[in-house]
Amino acid sequence: MTREPLIVRVDDVELAVDVRGAGPPLLFVHGFPFNRTMWKHQVAGLTRWRRIAPDLRGAGASSAPADGYSIARYADDLAAVLDAVGASQAVVCGLSMGGYILFELLRRHPERVRAAVFCDTKAEPDTAEARRGRDDLIAVAQRHGQAAVAERLLPLVLAPQTFEGQPEVVRDVREMIERMPVPGMVGALRALRDRPDSRPTLAMVRVPTLALVGEEDRISPPPAMEAMVAAISGARLERVPAAAHLAPLEQPLAATRILVEFLERL
Ligand code: MLT
Repeated sequence: MTREPLIVRVDDVELAVDVRGAGPPLLFVHGFPFNRTMWKHQVAGLTRWRRIAPDLRGAGASSAPADGYSIARYADDLAAVLDAVGASQAVVCGLSMGGYILFELLRRHPERVRAAVFCDTKAEPDTAEARRGRDDLIAVAQRHGQAAVAERLLPLVLAPQTFEGQPEVVRDVREMIERMPVPGMVGALRALRDRPDSRPTLAMVRVPTLALVGEEDRISPPPAMEAMVAAISGARLERVPAAAHLAPLEQPLAATRILVEFLERL
């Protein structure tokens, strides 16, 4: 992705957005602490769709204000991105935090979501222990910087097979984490810690829905995703072997094929 991103202004924040191709809009929402380049294989490959991949505020090449982060704010930013590219609706594909934001879009801006793809995500809010873990990671980011955050998270987000066989993927993920501005990390961690419970939303999802999970995912494990999918009418879960929390990047061929099969049936 060497082309310059489109810059979308939302209040005092600039969001960097890759927009490629023509066709029905397909919006990609990255997870934490990543950026829009985590979707590079799907943005390159899904050529029958208009691919829209923003950096959330605080991530990648977008502005990183000192505060004002929340799942609701991220969702409103995405609605503004859709406005800016003239898309009244999109199929929305969110990974992990991107999935939490997709639930919020379904609550706040349901008319903007044509269909939903939940990758490596879950509906539950943080437990008390997980909330303490967010505060610990905030302290690590503030005291020791992004490299220390990368050291903590890499073994959690990537499969053993990725470490063994795909050093370039490990390098890319490390770079994404190391490039995320600390204010963006801290803001995102607070937003994750305080996010709403999306379980009551599951029964309200009325759009075609796909879920996809890496078989080795320890953050959003397959059984949790199975329970989530069972509560969404008509949804189905696809598993990606030899992938953990970043299935679209760790196993791009398998993940993209699953997406294509879903998109072609819409
Ligand atoms: C993500 O990938 O967005 C994070 O793992 C989400 C989380 O930590 O809950």
